[in-house]
Amino acid sequence: MHLPDFKVARSSTKIDYNKINYKLDSKYLNKYKGKKCFLKTYGCQMNEHDSENIKGILELLGFDFTDNIEDADLVLLNTCSIRENAHNKAFGLLGRAKHIKESKRDLMIGLCGCMAQEEIVVNTIMAKYPFVNFVIGTHNFYQLPEILEVSEYKQQIEVYSREGDLIESLPVDRSSKYKAYVNIIYGCDKFCTYCIVPYTRGRQRSREKEDILKEVDNLIKDGYKEVTLLGQNVNAYGKDLYDNYSLAELLEDVAKTNIPRIRFMTSHPWDFTDEMIEVIAKYPNIMPSIHLPVQSGSDRILKLMGRRYTKEKYLTLFHKMKEMIPNCAISTDIIVGFPGETEEDFEETLKLVKECKYDNAYTFIYSPRVGTPAAKLTSNVTKEEKEQRLYKLNEIVNTYFKENNDKLVGKTVPVLVEGISDKKNEYFGYSDTNKLINFTGEDVEIGSIVNVEITTAKTWSLDGKVSK
Ligand code: SAH
Ligand code: SF4
Ligand code: F3S
Repeated sequence: MHLPDFKVARSSTKIDYNKINYKLDSKYLNKYKGKKCFLKTYGCQMNEHDSENIKGILELLGFDFTDNIEDADLVLLNTCSIRENAHNKAFGLLGRAKHIKESKRDLMIGLCGCMAQEEIVVNTIMAKYPFVNFVIGTHNFYQLPEILEVSEYKQQIEVYSREGDLIESLPVDRSSKYKAYVNIIYGCDKFCTYCIVPYTRGRQRSREKEDILKEVDNLIKDGYKEVTLLGQNVNAYGKDLYDNYSLAELLEDVAKTNIPRIRFMTSHPWDFTDEMIEVIAKYPNIMPSIHLPVQSGSDRILKLMGRRYTKEKYLTLFHKMKEMIPNCAISTDIIVGFPGETEEDFEETLKLVKECKYDNAYTFIYSPRVGTPAAKLTSNVTKEEKEQRLYKLNEIVNTYFKENNDKLVGKTVPVLVEGISDKKNEYFGYSDTNKLINFTGEDVEIGSIVNVEITTAKTWSLDGKVSK
């Protein structure tokens, strides 16, 4: 048994890790033939991609998948810790699984993902959730076959507090045939004071460039049209591994594979260099769409958050991108109600938003996470004030989404066709700038990139028709 420990997660001693090529012990192959798994994923793209790997492993074990929890022999929750409501949702589903297990005694229930890394979650499960068969951490989920086997008889808690080995060649069942996630860097070293990710995902570890490029080449052979290079902070890529190879060089090498579309996320403004901007501007297959979280427009709050940039530095970077990358769409994340945020601080955020006119923004009310430094700060912002600030902020960001979309009416944009929408005869897909486009057309091939003339702009999407 290994239990999570934030003190260990926080320690700065460097851990040596090995690169290991995953191989399933043949004794597990098809061991669970005929069994069904209900896999529920919470959280970010990183978690979604972990679920694709988990699915790949479970398929080798013989599992099929079901969307109906009542049908399942294994209920597996791939959880997220980023805010309180993600916690509540996972515990809610555990309650439901418990109820089902009362009349289905051999139902297996497991929890993985970021919540598994939290001491308080694991302590609660050990004390109050004896029906949970296993908890497995983000650094060792590939041990699922072994844990599953022993957890039939006794609750298993297998959570490594610090990152372990870097596992290559994991089996994968991707949710799309055209768009793929490719991990380039695991973990995060930034330790923003509000954020739990460095504790749940460990220290920054980059994958070797050869492994990344090989994965992209294989995706091209399999007909994939788009890759999203993933990391909590992709702009730190290579720092832990190479002297002279960063995200700029990696993006350039991936662009040269000629995969039609490359995206990357998430970017931390601190590590964004001019070379990276130049490469994005130079290659047409690197999409002009950047997620650049700002979190706050107040220098005082940014400092308390430990973000390592000022509003002025952020804006300089923002405008440089807009200037150098043609047609560049920029989206962001913003937190309101951080401890000590005054009305003036909040006004600073609104001022910044009015200057940046983001194409998209994810806005959140600050949620204290146990074990992070900000959780010890006292907050004088009331719940009502936080809600009012969020409401006001959303009203303003929404007007810019619509304003930016309005500018596209009459223009033609390239769209990767993902499917047919509920309304018959209508397709949907995403533009180069990552906007959802619903459109009509004849003989449109799903998985192809077509030119669409935009006819109508809405706040969250655009309508159009295939241009001849
Ligand atoms: N690595 C990315 C984002 C990680 S989490 C980055 O640094 O930008 C995604 C978003 O969740 C963050 O950008 C932040 O806006 C939000 N977030 C993180 N911790 C939070 C917390 N404790 N309360 C509210 N929002 C939070
Ligand atoms: Fe969290 Fe900050 Fe790391 Fe993003 S950069 S994952 S917000 S600690
Ligand atoms: Fe959530 Fe973990 Fe991602 S906390 S946002 S699933 S890294």
